[in-house]
Amino acid sequence: MDYFNALWTSEISEGYFETRLQSVPFATLSKDKVLIQVAYSSLNYKDALSANGHKGITRDFPHIPGIDAAGKVVLDPSHTFEVGQEVIVTGFDLGMNTHGGLAEYISVPPQWIIPLPYGMSTRKAMQWGTAGLTAGMAVSSLWHHGIRPNQGEIVLTGATGGVSMIALVLLKHLGFQVAAITGKLDQYSTLKKLGADRILDRDEFLSEKPRALYPMQFSGAIDVLGGDVLIKIIKSLHFGGAVAACGMASSVELPLQIYPFILRGVNLLGIYSADSPLEKKQEIWDKLANAWNIPLDAICRTIPLNEAPTYLTKIREGNHTGRTVVQINT
Ligand SMILES: NC(=O)c1ccc[n+]([C@@H]2O[C@H](COP(=O)([O-])OP(=O)(O)OC[C@H]3O[C@@H](n4cnc5c(N)ncnc54)[C@H](OP(=O)(O)O)[C@@H]3O)[C@@H](O)[C@H]2O)c1
Repeated sequence: MDYFNALWTSEISEGYFETRLQSVPFATLSKDKVLIQVAYSSLNYKDALSANGHKGITRDFPHIPGIDAAGKVVLDPSHTFEVGQEVIVTGFDLGMNTHGGLAEYISVPPQWIIPLPYGMSTRKAMQWGTAGLTAGMAVSSLWHHGIRPNQGEIVLTGATGGVSMIALVLLKHLGFQVAAITGKLDQYSTLKKLGADRILDRDEFLSEKPRALYPMQFSGAIDVLGGDVLIKIIKSLHFGGAVAACGMASSVELPLQIYPFILRGVNLLGIYSADSPLEKKQEIWDKLANAWNIPLDAICRTIPLNEAPTYLTKIREGNHTGRTVVQINT
């Protein structure tokens, strides 16, 4: 077999990129790494950017996007894994400047690979994917910071997105009260069904006149937007509260006075799952497989690889909700 199927992003004219399913030579993949046959992948915000030629994510094209993959080891020159062993790869350079998981095969260093936790299927692993790992790290960092359910409400932003929907169901599983901020008014009933105790319209949340500090209303927060929403949240945290900052879907800017940090002792906890040490990833995967093992079917859809370009466009245009799992070799 000389070729495999993959999503292939190429620059078809200057600055104009196209992503489509095509047959790719095996020689495209690195020969001396661990070859994995991908069973499932999943779609994340970074994939949508890479598949649209975003040079901040992927420098060189053509390229196979996909920061997530779960499947079986086919060949391991390092002898770290057994042939046939089921594994997960998320983040590091996968799908960025290394050909990614939206393909029948990937080839990656053994240091990026996590054995599939006992009892978890490759499909469930990709329902979680990078979004779940990140939500897990954010929840874990709030917990380690001492934030507990009896201390008040946690607020989530970008509530209909992959990271935040998983954070919502995880926080509810742990007994927290959760307020969800969204820009999608038509998704209120979905968020309610998932357990959101309060739903806030993003524009309304931002409509208040800017102040140095707002009344304290949240004990903690998980933010995927940055910018104005994150600023208002920081100014609305309880004394000693914390926000786990995961994303910048709205803005990379954070123009802010120091008052909330000094006068209220609030904390900004940075989360970056992709390059977290393998041991940290392993710790969260173990939680997702055991104490935090909750059903995710209500927030996930499964699509074939040829439909992934359509869903990547939806993510880029802000018309995507929940998690999309991509079925490849099963
Ligand atoms: N730190 C990490 O390790 C890590 C890992 C994964 C993802 N991330 C980042 O986290 C963010 C969310 O990722 P995701 O996979 O959850 O993405 P997603 O599924 O596309 O969800 C993002 C959500 O944010 C809101 N949104 C999107 N664009 C927006 C805009 N321009 N202005 C305001 N709101 C907007 C939308 O929610 P509503 O319509 O409900 O408001 C959208 O559903 C991205 O920035 C991603 O790069 C970081």
